[in-house]
Amino acid sequence: MRVRPAHPTDALEIAGWFPDAEAVLRWGGHEPPFPVEPEWLAREFRSRSRAYFVAVEGADEDPPLGLIGMRRHFRHGRVHLVRVGVKPDRRGEGIAARLIEAVAGVARAGGADRLTLNVYGSNTAAVRAYEKAGFAQFGTVATGDDPSGIVIRMARRL
Ligand SMILES: CC(C)(COP(=O)(O)OP(=O)(O)OC[C@H]1O[C@@H](n2cnc3c(N)ncnc32)[C@H](O)[C@@H]1OP(=O)(O)O)[C@@H](O)C(=O)NCCC(=O)NCCS
Repeated sequence: MRVRPAHPTDALEIAGWFPDAEAVLRWGGHEPPFPVEPEWLAREFRSRSRAYFVAVEGADEDPPLGLIGMRRHFRHGRVHLVRVGVKPDRRGEGIAARLIEAVAGVARAGGADRLTLNVYGSNTAAVRAYEKAGFAQFGTVATGDDPSGIVIRMARRL
């Protein structure tokens, strides 16, 4: 498995990973439309303020198995992860960790010294994945969007 930059042509496959509005909200918060429009996602991949990467089995042209996005706040020494998602039938294999390691390398090379992310309190699979990848919880923010009532803020040193 390897990680490469996301291409607009990956968008159609990834848009199919989130079958209902709740799944879209958990994955991407309020920004992504439901149903996820491939064209919306392709525009995200072209955006200059963010960078997106996908995990593929082997060759560059293989279909994506997982997605990760990063917002670079290099002036503040920080990279914020967004839209981490793995193809439903490939969850539980540690693909999120592979994506996070790849982005950690990019962030380090850009001079960042920490990664941050936000995750809904009820998303225990995601919290587990992030803890296994070295993240620790450092705070919460109240939200009405999740049954837990909180967004958990997590960070990891690079
Ligand atoms: C959160 C997510 C990215 C984790 O990616 P992953 O590559 O499956 O992560 P891991 O393999 O480390 O598994 C993490 C946890 O998922 C759970 N899990 C295991 N198999 C699973 C499966 N088939 N389906 C769903 N969750 C599973 C387990 O709790 C696992 O923790 P464990 O290894 O301690 O048992 C992935 O579940 C996903 O895409 N979820 C939907 C989108 C989402 O919620 N994104 C996060 C936004 S903040």
